This record gives sequence, structure tokens and C-alpha cells, in this order.
Amino acid sequence: MKKSAKGIGLAIIGGGRVGLFRGEVAARHPSVEWIGLAEKNPNRAGEVAGKIGADFVTQDHRELMRRPEVTCVIIATDEHLHVDPIMAAVERGVPMLIEKPLATNLAESARVLKAIKDAKLDAVVGYTQRFRRRWLAAKEKCRTGALGDVTMVTSRAFMNRLVAIDNYKRTDDPSTISPMVISGTHALDICMWCLEGKTPVDCYARSIDKVLGPAYKGIDATAGMINFSDGTVYHLNISWALPVTWPGAVYSLDVGIVGTTGVLTIDDTHRDIVLAVSKAQGEGYNPDASRLVDFMGSYPPGDMALGELRGPMAEETVSWLNRVALGLPTPAATVEEAHRNLMLTKALDLSAKRKQPVKLPLDPLEELSAA
Ligand SMILES: NC(=O)c1ccc[n+]([C@@H]2O[C@H](COP(=O)([O-])OP(=O)(O)OC[C@H]3O[C@@H](n4cnc5c(N)ncnc54)[C@H](O)[C@@H]3O)[C@@H](O)[C@H]2O)c1
Repeated sequence: MKKSAKGIGLAIIGGGRVGLFRGEVAARHPSVEWIGLAEKNPNRAGEVAGKIGADFVTQDHRELMRRPEVTCVIIATDEHLHVDPIMAAVERGVPMLIEKPLATNLAESARVLKAIKDAKLDAVVGYTQRFRRRWLAAKEKCRTGALGDVTMVTSRAFMNRLVAIDNYKRTDDPSTISPMVISGTHALDICMWCLEGKTPVDCYARSIDKVLGPAYKGIDATAGMINFSDGTVYHLNISWALPVTWPGAVYSLDVGIVGTTGVLTIDDTHRDIVLAVSKAQGEGYNPDASRLVDFMGSYPPGDMALGELRGPMAEETVSWLNRVALGLPTPAATVEEAHRNLMLTKALDLSAKRKQPVKLPLDPLEELSAA
């Protein structure tokens, strides 16, 4: 059966690291006929526009969303700056690919979710790891019952402190930035995807803040447990305060999924490709001169090779463009799942703060009153 693709007029809001990656991939996609870029920083706007061959550039995302060519939008602004661009896209009524999280507080996330649902728009959220074969394989084994009834999941996420420092430096409200909300959410999304259909009922967590607390009023690490109505347990932890020299560029993950008749373990620490050099390569997230050893493949978007981004974010972006152009289904996270992920990470943070269990789902008002 022949499928005919719709032409795409793509708006990209936020031309930082992710906006540039996705823009470069989109510029090569056969259905993309027009690209508009909104980037607040004029120098960065000019640089990125040239690299992605943008047809229109502005510093104002509302001006971009008024352009008649726009048929869909990628929202790749900083974590705490997603809400207004999402609302502008909702008003315009176009499909969206939104970077995680939907918002950095639960009430705003609920508002955005409702606006997207009321407008009946197709919106997905950039949980990029879902596009890797290993997690798709894990999802398939859980979905088809190969492990029996999944009863326990465990995930360990280790990151050096570069991402944390960058996030804390960029915000004037460190209380909205936590390892669980910003980074732990990726491992949580994968594990909750494997636990699809189960209902979380309460959670318990503790945090540590000996490194990032004094310097940034931040959190180093959180370890917790989510309990489900059928007795299933998900045990998770993340530290994003490892020394800068820890070779994982960003994410180094170990996951175990135990069921009544099977078990699946996934070593996603990226120790299989180790690069050691005498001079820092300036690659990855916030490259640092002291990093001479690298677990290659641990930078979540992927790696540059032969002038193109290769890996999960390239595959995710192409898959989303095909979804928009051809109406093909994709494994992308829905806005409901993204909101649920934020709710769970906020509940873990709240439990750690109170040193008490928190009932799920966490109510946005409870989060506000605890702030
Ligand atoms: N899916 C993944 O694997 C993955 C990886 C890295 C980052 N992210 C997410 O992507 C998002 C962006 O991260 P990044 O690393 O590219 O950040 P970044 O700081 O490199 O880029 C953000 C850019 O958005 C611009 N901006 C902010 N508000 C704007 C507005 N209203 N209009 C126009 N431009 C605006 C900033 O000037 C900046 O250039 C974050 O939500 C982050 O969590 C996802």
C-alpha cells in the first residue's frame, strides 16, 4: 500500500543543544519543506539557523507560531521554560514534540496536559531512550509476558556532576531542579513503561545533598521505592553528583526486571566502549577539560559521526516527523505519561523532604503547600 506524506512546516522553539540536534535531523527529512526557528539568544539563533538551513528566524516564539507555514512544533527550551511555548502551540492547534519535563511544577504540568487534551492535539514528549533497541526489547518481553507477572524492578542511574551544575546555574529557583525530576525521569519512564497497566499507590525516598547542597542549594542523589496496588515494587536511585571525571558522559544505568517466571537484566552503563585520550575531546554535555576517559554512547542524544548525529535522538526525531507526515504510530511517551512521570518524581522528592511515605497520585496542591 502506498502512503503519501504530508509536507511539514516545522517550528523549533529553543535552538540550544537539543534544538540544533533535532533541527539538523529535520533538515535532512524528505517531508520537511520549511523550518522556522525561535531562539532568545540572537548569536545562538544566527549560528543554529545557518546550520539547519532555517527559512525564518526570530527571538520571539509567539511570532514564529503566527507564521502561516507552521504545521508542527518542537519545543526545546530549558526545562523550566516549556509552558508558554506549549500554550502558544496549543492556541495554534499543531502537533508537538515537547522536551521533558512538561513543566517543573505539577500544577503547571496539569494545566498544560489539560490544554493539550481539550484541544485534542497529538503531542508527544522526548523520552528519547524509548527509541533504543535494548529498551524496546525490554518493553516487548514485559508486554508479551515472557517474564510472567513483573513483580520487582530496580534501576541505578549514575551521572557525573556536570549536568547538575549546569542546571543549578541556569535557574533562580533551585527547589524546582532535582536529580529525579530532571534526569531520573528517563530511567523512571523506561521502568514505568515496562510496568504499564500497574497502579502506583505510594512511595518512599531519601536524598543526600553534601556536594550540591552547599554550592547550589541542590540535591546530590535520591534513593526510593514506588509501591503498586498489586504488591509490585520499583526500587530506584540516581546520583548526579559523581566526580566530573566519572567516565559516563551523562547517563550510566543498570536495570533489573524480575517477574514470576523470568528475569531480564540490562547493563546500560556503557562500559563496552571506553575511550581514553591525552587531550580532552570537547564532546558531550558541557565538555570539561579534565575528562580524558569516556564511556562512549553515554551521551543520551547520541554521537556525531561523519557530520551527522547518530543514535537515539536522531531516530526519535525521524520517527516523530514520520508520525506527523504519515500518521504512523510511534513508541513516544504521551503527555499523560510525561505528567505521570513528573508526578512520581515530585512525590519521591517530597517523600525525601518529609522523610515520610507519600500517597499516590500526588495532588498538585499538596506539592504547592509543601514548597
Ligand atoms: N531527550 C533527551 O535525551 C534530552 C537530552 C538533553 C536535554 N533534553 C531536554 O531538552 C530541553 C533543552 O535542553 P538543552 O540541553 O538543549 O538546553 P540549552 O540550554 O542548550 O537550550 C535551550 C535554548 O532555549 C532557548 N530558549 C529558552 N526559552 C526560549 C523561548 N521562549 N524562545 C526561544 N528560545 C528560548 C535558550 O536561549 C537556549 O538556547 C530541556 O528540557 C532538556 O531537559 C532532553
